[in-house]
Amino acid sequence: MKLHVALLPGDGIGPEVSDQAAAVLEAVAKKFSHDLHMQSGLIGGVAIRATGDPLPPESLRLAKSAGAVLMGAVGHPDFDSLPPEKRPEKGLLRIRKELAVFANLRPAVCYKALEVLSPLRREVVSGTDLIIVRELTGGIYYGTPRGVSRFDNEASAINTMVYTKSEIERIARVGFKLAQGRRKLLTSVDKANVLENSQLWRELVTELGKREFPDVQVEHQLVDSCAMQIIQNPRRFDVVVTENMFGDILSDEAAVLTGSIGMLPSASLGEHTGLYEPVHGSAPDIAGQGVANPFGAILSVAMMLRHSFGLEREAKAVESAVLRTIEAGVLSRDLKGTATTQQIGAAVVERL
Ligand code: NAD
Ligand code: IPM
Ligand code: MN
Repeated sequence: MKLHVALLPGDGIGPEVSDQAAAVLEAVAKKFSHDLHMQSGLIGGVAIRATGDPLPPESLRLAKSAGAVLMGAVGHPDFDSLPPEKRPEKGLLRIRKELAVFANLRPAVCYKALEVLSPLRREVVSGTDLIIVRELTGGIYYGTPRGVSRFDNEASAINTMVYTKSEIERIARVGFKLAQGRRKLLTSVDKANVLENSQLWRELVTELGKREFPDVQVEHQLVDSCAMQIIQNPRRFDVVVTENMFGDILSDEAAVLTGSIGMLPSASLGEHTGLYEPVHGSAPDIAGQGVANPFGAILSVAMMLRHSFGLEREAKAVESAVLRTIEAGVLSRDLKGTATTQQIGAAVVERL
């Protein structure tokens, strides 16, 4: 089959991990006789430097015309003092909105061989297998009014958390459907004791469950308590569905259960082109050293094969090669190993 993939490496360790993810994609395509066309574009700080725009029109065109987009990461300290509108991150927020990828799946799985690497005790993290379904194109990230105003020496700033009924129902539906294929437990996370927005969220998730998914058990948790339970008793979670900002925060927390943020892949899905990226950022503190963990990026390729191209066998082949690479102890520094990013990518390719 023809696989058209847009590659947007971005900043910092983005190019380092996406190079290895692309190598794995090429190898798996070859092994299963698919016709892969990969084309690269600019996003983030590198795009600002080259064109003045964190998401140049060519990159957006490339992404929209592809069957799937593979991204590295964006963000660079040089832009840290700029307002949100002018930052590399804006390119990422825009591409998510433009592709209308409202459902961001962030699985957090603790591999047996990595259990001892989490700062949490082994008996706590062992057997963790949860997935966060993060709403990605709405909420406080995009709501208006937003901005800063400065009058008479007094400054104020505003952001708006807004969700419509249809936005809540469509993300909840993704969570319910995933739960149906797993352990049939959906945890909906909100702050309904304070926010009207969350009250509507809770009401609609409850009704949708009763109406369309009676086979799935639904529970509601307040986000502060959920943050605690995720590290206290991670095994109890199956599918967690939540709004944009809560999902951002909880997914970095869940990463600790797996040993490193470098382990977490993600798939962002809508009606058309899917966007695949590791959960981690550009990690400026280790960029250029060749020590970044590429597993999150490589596992994002597996998610792409499964969700955008319907290639389950190929997805499983990548996941199994990653598992065997981990079991062989080919690990990066964040996992107490000595392998370089490139060596890990090669080790996965070898095991495909
Ligand atoms: P980060 O995820 O980049 O890094 C947090 C810590 O985890 C750092 O110590 C880093 O070295 C480590 N780390 C991250 N990924 C790793 C990997 N693959 N292998 C080994 N170690 C890894 O988060 P941050 O430091 O808060 O953000 C840095 C920049 O990245 C910021 O500009 C931020 O906006 C951006 N960011 C981008 C994305 C994205 O593009 N999707 C996601 C998160 C943060
Ligand atoms: C992520 C990142 C992004 C987000 C930033 C870089 C805009 O933290 O993908 O988790 O907040 O969504
Ligand atoms: Mn994040």
